[in-house]
Amino acid sequence: MDASTLLDRIIAAPDLASLDAARIAALGKSGQITALLKSLGGMTPDQRAVEGPRIHTLREDVTGAIAARKAALESELLDQRLATERVDLSLPAHETLRGSVHPVSQVMDELAEIFADLGFAVAEGPEIEDDWHNFTALNIPETHPARAMHDTFYVAGAGEPRVLRTHTSPVQIRTMMAQKPPIRIIAPGRVYRSDSDATHTPMFHQIEGLEINKGINMGHLKWTLETFLKAFFERDDIVLRLRPSYFPFTEPSAEVDVGWSMEKGRRVVGGSEGWMEVLGCGMVHPRVIANCGLDPAEWQGFAFGTGVDRLAMLKYGMDDLRPFFDGDLRWMKHYGFSALDVPTLSGGVGA
Ligand code: DAH
Repeated sequence: MDASTLLDRIIAAPDLASLDAARIAALGKSGQITALLKSLGGMTPDQRAVEGPRIHTLREDVTGAIAARKAALESELLDQRLATERVDLSLPAHETLRGSVHPVSQVMDELAEIFADLGFAVAEGPEIEDDWHNFTALNIPETHPARAMHDTFYVAGAGEPRVLRTHTSPVQIRTMMAQKPPIRIIAPGRVYRSDSDATHTPMFHQIEGLEINKGINMGHLKWTLETFLKAFFERDDIVLRLRPSYFPFTEPSAEVDVGWSMEKGRRVVGGSEGWMEVLGCGMVHPRVIANCGLDPAEWQGFAFGTGVDRLAMLKYGMDDLRPFFDGDLRWMKHYGFSALDVPTLSGGVGA
């Protein structure tokens, strides 16, 4: 076999096995080029001077051709594999889009996203609470009129009285008892009160916010609320008004109004043609901090609470709360969100 047949065989090798056979036939122990190299030993110096470089060049050509063919065959194999081993990463849209995300879930996701950006983690607590966490630890003693104001559902059973939590504030207590400060949490969830009309349902949703740290003041609270409401309503012209108020668990306490204006015959949040109340807040009462085993001289904080359903109504324009919980598919189709519409700060939390 001459040099060109050798090279042809390599270039034409249909697969890696035949290429390897060609390699052995040329460069193996009893391969043709190996034999040629061996023959150099029996040559005269003059012959070797001519044949030596020729044989070495041949060996280099053959080695190069093998490497090139090997790379080509391997890349062909990879292409074949890539073509057959396809992974379909798409979702069957008509299947997933059949259901929709309830506005309350959507708004809770929006809130988690906004507060995560401010360094707040999501905390949870039980919906069946004991009296101490729901009232006493929050500075609402047994004789306090605020207990009656909460229209509490009591859970029958032996032992300690239990209630369906009337607000998300007990999650403040549970968090302060379980974690060391500094603490920054929000606690969204279901709450229960014996009340029912166009704007009240026996079960509704609240979100609680709590920061416990050193040197916290009302300025931190106001900035946090303003930043949150601007991000939530996706408007820069959000104006807040803090009115002095009373909550047993905060001192001082304030109710927060947000300015609204008329746009195309609708009242929308933003501007300051009028005011509507959106949240309750204040500096966490020193007694509440002490009830959780922390020293109020060392740790201060702010807290706030608001209705998630109400936030959803204000943002997405529903005016009756009751259909939120009727499970009517026509309502869900109208007000629900696509499962793919995940709120992100960069993409807009407003959907
Ligand atoms: N827990 C109150 C309620 O259900 C809302 C609230 C007001 C929570 C003021 C707070 C706060 O944390 O500081 O009406």
